[in-house]
Amino acid sequence: MADEEPLPEVRAVEAGQVLRLCCCGQCASLPDAGAACTAPLELSVGRERHLLLCRCGLSARLPFCDGSHAPAVPGLKERWRRFTGR
Ligand code: FES
Repeated sequence: MADEEPLPEVRAVEAGQVLRLCCCGQCASLPDAGAACTAPLELSVGRERHLLLCRCGLSARLPFCDGSHAPAVPGLKERWRRFTGR
């Protein structure tokens, strides 16, 4: 995987936390919603957990990562190249 590709963020959250997350995919502060976000999601956390949050803006399930940051590649050679970077 190239270094410039953003990876998802694993965020540990606790019960009672309120997050304001971006669902427009355009905020520079992804996965958090910026002040001008057109589709913010206010999420009240019910229990302690880990969230996998999108930082590339390509997910169809924003603000959560759906794997779109690294679409499938055909063939073992390409998968190996992505894994090793060579
Ligand atoms: S980080 Fe955006 S889809 Fe995974």
